[in-house]
Amino acid sequence: MTEPNVLEMTGLTRLFRKGGGLFGGKSFAAVDDVTFTLPAEPCVSSIVGESGSGKTTLARMLLRLVTPTSGEIRLLGRPVHGQKTERIDDMSFRRQVQPIFQNPFEAFSAYLPVIDYLRATARNLEVAEGARAVDAEVDRALRMVGLSLARVEGKFIRQFSGGELQRISVARALIPRPRLIVADEPVSMVDASLRMSIVNIFKRIKDEEGISFVYITHDLSTAYYLSDRVSIMNKGRIIESGTPADVLDDPAEAYTQELMNAVPRVNDRWPEIDRLKAASVPA
Ligand SMILES: Nc1ncnc2c1ncn2[C@@H]1O[C@H](COP(=O)(O)OP(=O)(O)OP(=O)(O)O)[C@@H](O)[C@H]1O
Ligand SMILES: [Mg+2]
Repeated sequence: MTEPNVLEMTGLTRLFRKGGGLFGGKSFAAVDDVTFTLPAEPCVSSIVGESGSGKTTLARMLLRLVTPTSGEIRLLGRPVHGQKTERIDDMSFRRQVQPIFQNPFEAFSAYLPVIDYLRATARNLEVAEGARAVDAEVDRALRMVGLSLARVEGKFIRQFSGGELQRISVARALIPRPRLIVADEPVSMVDASLRMSIVNIFKRIKDEEGISFVYITHDLSTAYYLSDRVSIMNKGRIIESGTPADVLDDPAEAYTQELMNAVPRVNDRWPEIDRLKAASVPA
């Protein structure tokens, strides 16, 4: 039997009312007829587009936080939305798909030591039973991002830097050994050097753990460096997709060309992308 695709979106559409409110305004498509596949083998698929193009709405539908108006999402061959009897069960869904958000400070409680939150994640997702086994899983996840249980134990979020906390939220996502991580602007709040280390962590996780990523960003440099596939989103639609070289070196669409024109280039090279390639993963 062939392995199912990790993700299949077909004709995915989400309407909202303009101007918000229940009765206000006409409706418009924040996501408009998007069809998109992630194959069975691990891959990083980036979605790039300017503010308001529908990226977060798409991510929230993938995470089952927003209901599609029409169209379908399948995860590992099973519907994500729809009747409870037909769709993927909640526990499998929560274990197979994990989110990483833009602001890591919002991902954790300010009143709970961060390690307790990670332990609770492992217990709630039934990753391990018993304190020792739970700690072993949490430590495994933290080591994948260059940290360890011993380094995190007893600390609250305010005792970590933004970059460390984002690495911890990557570790949190790794606890259930998911097949897919949906990362919505995960590096837009961290500075350039940390951005490189987090992007390199994603690359290593894909290669070593076989986890696929939907990587949502404004940032063409990291999308170019990290992705197997890039999709350009404009006004709710995917207007162009392919390998980074196909899409970004030689855009077919004027909109993509405009996005690329905004990336600094020196002698026909992108210094930012070259720096990403040179940066190493923290030990
Ligand atoms: N709950 C909602 N109700 C009404 N309109 C919404 C809602 N959520 C999003 N929108 C609208 O849908 C459009 C797409 O928003 P979305 O947040 O998906 O864009 P985005 O590409 O993630 O933007 P950004 O890059 O700024 O994060 C915007 O016009 C937004 O105002
Ligand atoms: Mg967004």
